[in-house]
Amino acid sequence: MDTRPIGLFDSGVGGLTAVRALTRAVPFESFVYLGDTANAPYGDRTPEALRDLSRQNIRFLRGRDVKAVLVACNTSTANAMDAMLAACPDIPVVGVIAPAAAAAVSATQTGRIAVLATAATVRSGAYERAIRELMPPARVTMVPCPKLVPLIEAGRTDPADPDLAAAVAEYAGPVLAAEADTVILGCTHYPLVRVAIQKALGPDVALIDSGAASVGVLITALGERDAMGDTTKPGSRRFYCSAGRDTFTSVGSAFLGWDMSGETEEVDLCQDRPIKN
Ligand code: DGL
Repeated sequence: MDTRPIGLFDSGVGGLTAVRALTRAVPFESFVYLGDTANAPYGDRTPEALRDLSRQNIRFLRGRDVKAVLVACNTSTANAMDAMLAACPDIPVVGVIAPAAAAAVSATQTGRIAVLATAATVRSGAYERAIRELMPPARVTMVPCPKLVPLIEAGRTDPADPDLAAAVAEYAGPVLAAEADTVILGCTHYPLVRVAIQKALGPDVALIDSGAASVGVLITALGERDAMGDTTKPGSRRFYCSAGRDTFTSVGSAFLGWDMSGETEEVDLCQDRPIKN
């Protein structure tokens, strides 16, 4: 048994989609979540910048003595997995891309898979590689969706929001043209606008949630190391963000379904210390 917390990070509220899946699957596990809101969005950054930011986030989580890291960000997974693995030789580090690719390959009937993702994830080619490794003849359509994360970080997740509806309709176009039957939400933010995406694509398209898909892989990794928490007690939870605590907690609380404001602290990641507002 290992009662230390699991660490998760993302550029903002997106990784809370993995938190929700984690708390449902293993409510007894403690966790520490970091949303690097000061540097969001990550999706238009260079691979070099993403490696630096990802290393910084790993350092922060390791400073909280985590027993494993779930990289709840596709953009970091796509661009910085090697750097994060090198920074954590002693604990499991699970990314979101391989689990999401595996879930999509199991779900598809036609082999036509589309991936909605940030520009930096699309540019990396990581999803095509992960899918083709499992299903070489798959037809993969990559769709960069740069307008979604800023809307979601601002709490604009209502499918009736005209800017959101227009952006989703634009990104649905190439998916519908490719006749994909399975779509990976290849950015952990996108399940927050799942209703709008499903509406634009129609009810028959299977949507894969990358954060939720990776939780099972993390639990397996902990089980193999005999590092699960104490199943007889509820886990503790702690949230950190690096800017905009009020928006972070209001968008996050609405998604998680509980008030996380008392559990959330704003930190200066460069100094790794609390920010007094
Ligand atoms: N949620 C992240 C991802 O999965 C990052 C999105 C962003 O900050 O652009 O890619």
